[in-house]
Amino acid sequence: SFPDFVKIVEVGPRDGLQNEKEMVPTEVKIQLIDMLSQTGLSVIEATSFVSSKWVAQMADHTEVLKGINKLPHVRYPVLTPNLQGFQTAVEAGATDVAVFGSASETFSKRNINCSIEESMQRFERVISAAKQAGIPVRGYVSCALGCPFEGAVQPTQVTKVVKRLLELGCYEVSLGDTTGVGTAGSMAAMLHAVTAEVPVHTLAVHCHDTYGQALANILTALQMGVSVVDSSVAGLGGCPYAKGASGNVSTEDVVYMLQGMGIETGVDLSKVIEAGEFICRALNRPTNSKVARATKA
Ligand code: HMG
Ligand code: MG
Repeated sequence: SFPDFVKIVEVGPRDGLQNEKEMVPTEVKIQLIDMLSQTGLSVIEATSFVSSKWVAQMADHTEVLKGINKLPHVRYPVLTPNLQGFQTAVEAGATDVAVFGSASETFSKRNINCSIEESMQRFERVISAAKQAGIPVRGYVSCALGCPFEGAVQPTQVTKVVKRLLELGCYEVSLGDTTGVGTAGSMAAMLHAVTAEVPVHTLAVHCHDTYGQALANILTALQMGVSVVDSSVAGLGGCPYAKGASGNVSTEDVVYMLQGMGIETGVDLSKVIEAGEFICRALNRPTNSKVARATKA
């Protein structure tokens, strides 16, 4: 059976914009987040405290986090790969952070320049500092349904990394289909393995739509009890360390599907479409959301 309420985690300002080749002006990022804050979304991932040598687009993280109009009922998590990123984030006013690991060794090396084991040691330090500061930590596991370098990833390997992140103290782990290669079949098999070991309410799904499978994969996850879904306004995005990966599933399309199923999200679809129109105008690019395109026509 399906959940009554789904929490949508909007990742557009981070996952959506991080892959943009040309620098997006800081004011545009701020306005996008401020518009998203008015839509009823309860979680908006705002930016990343990563190295600007690795992802130049997120170099204005402090200005973005300080510049947005933070609403009391909205959380604004930011990515923090290590203690240095965590400390800078806290100085910039972060009250929610996320660490990001991988189920694939090669992807871990390419994305955060360390092995899975080393990443867990870094995360342990971040999570322990966060605990002291009273800051909740979300975890990500990339390559949950496949790796751009290694191909198939075993569900047992995903389970291992998810368990580790929860044991370290993450309140929720988001399962990333980084390159969007998953299908309803591989999603079901992976979730079957993971939910045999951890409670389903600690899981989120984070589907990129490269192969056009994201909504089907999300539907499969909802059917299996997952009630947290990551998505990106206008379907922006991709990971700079996963060549060819397209954007996340669009928030507009997810909200439309959930509305049709009678599942509450608290999100005003027309306001998300407006925020999507704003960012697509700023990027001079058509939307990747089919719902936004259809309602415009
Ligand atoms: P490194 O080069 O191994 O770091 O990078 P290091 O500790 O050896 O330090 C080297 C230099 O980086 C030093 O500066 C540090 O100060 C600096 P120098 O002395 O040379 O001037 N440094 C930092 N600067 C700013 N912020 C920091 C930081 N840490 C060290 N936090 C590091 C390791 C993790 C920093 C790097 O690999 C990195 O920034 N990676 C981020 C890559 C990234 O952002 N990827 C995209 C996000 S993940 C994603 O999109 C997937 C997801 O959406 C889920 C899915 O779809 O699957 C989440
Ligand atoms: Mg992603």
